[in-house]
Amino acid sequence: MLIRRIKCVRNLGIRYNSSHYVTTPIFYVNAAPHIGHLYSAVIADAHCRYQRLRNPEKTVRLCTGTDEHGTKIQQAATLHGIPVAKYCDDISERYREVFRSASIQPDDFIRTTEERHKRAVAHFWRTLHSRGHIYSAAYSGWYCVSDETFLTDSQLRLDESTETRFSLESGHPVEWTEETNYMFRLSQFQDDVRHWVKQEARIRPAKFEKILLDTLSEPLPDVSVSRPSNRVHWAIPVPDDDSQTVYVWLDALVNYLSSVGYPNKEFSAHWPPAQQVIGKDILKFHGIYWPAFLLAAGLEPPGQLHVHSHWTVDGQKMSKSKHNVVDPVQAAQQYTMEGLRYFLLREGVAHSDGNYSHVKAQRILNSELADTLGNLLSRACAKSLNPGQIYPSADAEHLADLLRTLDATKRLQESLLQLSERCESHYECNHFHLVADTAMAALHAANNFFESSRPWTLKAGTAESNQPRLETIIAMTMDALRLCGIVLQPIIPQLATRLLDKLRVPTAERGWNYLAKSFASSPAHLGGSCQLDGQTSALLFQRIVEENPTKEEHKPQPAKRIKSKKKDRRETMS
Ligand code: MSP
Repeated sequence: MLIRRIKCVRNLGIRYNSSHYVTTPIFYVNAAPHIGHLYSAVIADAHCRYQRLRNPEKTVRLCTGTDEHGTKIQQAATLHGIPVAKYCDDISERYREVFRSASIQPDDFIRTTEERHKRAVAHFWRTLHSRGHIYSAAYSGWYCVSDETFLTDSQLRLDESTETRFSLESGHPVEWTEETNYMFRLSQFQDDVRHWVKQEARIRPAKFEKILLDTLSEPLPDVSVSRPSNRVHWAIPVPDDDSQTVYVWLDALVNYLSSVGYPNKEFSAHWPPAQQVIGKDILKFHGIYWPAFLLAAGLEPPGQLHVHSHWTVDGQKMSKSKHNVVDPVQAAQQYTMEGLRYFLLREGVAHSDGNYSHVKAQRILNSELADTLGNLLSRACAKSLNPGQIYPSADAEHLADLLRTLDATKRLQESLLQLSERCESHYECNHFHLVADTAMAALHAANNFFESSRPWTLKAGTAESNQPRLETIIAMTMDALRLCGIVLQPIIPQLATRLLDKLRVPTAERGWNYLAKSFASSPAHLGGSCQLDGQTSALLFQRIVEENPTKEEHKPQPAKRIKSKKKDRRETMS
């Protein structure tokens, strides 16, 4: 059997089937969502949106949801004096709402309290059991309720004054626990899991592969996969043994299978997930337990784990006890959800923690979304320059002349020609910050081109009045906006849609293939002018201004968003 299993592991490359199944972790319902949670979901959503744009023939499927069993959920409900089922409903709904308002578009939102999931867990358990990977044993050890896990001595810190031990990783207290549990033979999967981890691009970024391989260099102990029901009763019962409930992490991980219909055959159309997005704190569960459970059940482990780091506030992890949790709903009142999405993907990098700061968010959003992107659209659509409110076509002769005589034209053309290839390689690695960088660089080039070509000197009634040249400049500027709008759709879907609507770009021409097609072959919109959409405002993103600036920059502050007052200085001069 071992040989068969190893053969199955060796064959695991990243599989490119017609389905591209992506998951977020499912979120604990013991507290309301914060921006760290939103971050996991926004990464997965942006990844899926890019995949749909790039490969329209693929079935892209995104699953998210809530993790609702276990002692800490039970305790949170008790603390609030609410029946636990109702408490789960309420918090789960808050996740749904936040995700809806942040334009996260899952194909499924799964809850571990749903019947379909309970059925999947029972089937998965029976499969592991019937294959001989689960056994019953007396177990004792330090148990961390908050992390729902047993910890070894080396994972603990002893506070000598109180004789209390704490989890080194999470800082939560542990208690000595002796009980009879079902154990999973994790130790038997050490080599298989190591082999899986070492596959090319399996764990991204690479530093997390190293962490897993370090853990795998020590012998893996078997892991307890059940709890006595009298201690943890808000959980799924172990099949055929009511005295035990299923360990919450085994329960939770199976959600990825339940969502695609497991154990019904249909699940195999989506299995295995192409990419699972997780935060670094849950790496061990997804990078060791999960592939081992799947291999033990005879199923293929995921194609890739995309691991992200954390958001800190003033260098500290967000936590309720530190009163530094950033609420996405409040943050969106200042920046809009699109602004918040942009900030998280623009500032967050997977390999190291990002520091959340109000000042930084305000600076980036004002400079990039309001000025570089928004202001350029307003200028190109200004009635004084563009009285007919059109997306004009370029005049071939004037375009050639601008390319010959104005360096800024050449620079803009080059950056637009490279846009598709560069952004594609960044998106493939979930390097959203580099996509934003590349798009902003192109938009800077467009702003520069607009300034240097001085369109205000060409408009009707001026000495140098020259309509075809003026239209060529506007066409080139709108091309830059259109192409950057296409590229930015996965990151800021609503803003990009408004931008493309304003420019009347047909829905069928917003796909990735249109980037190369509509620019490389015709450097500016040569196809014939079209009318701008009068119903859509040219004001994309209002600047954020401070009403009462305070030094405590991370605290939600009274900020208001005003209409961009930044006038086109050149227009006033003309
Ligand atoms: N329920 C488990 C996951 C089970 S998946 C089978 C869990 N839930 S969680 O609500 O605590 O975390 C969900 C996600 O939010 C994780 O990816 C976690 O890393 C992420 N974040 C929680 N706090 C975070 C930050 N401060 N910053 C960034 N993301 C962090 O773990």
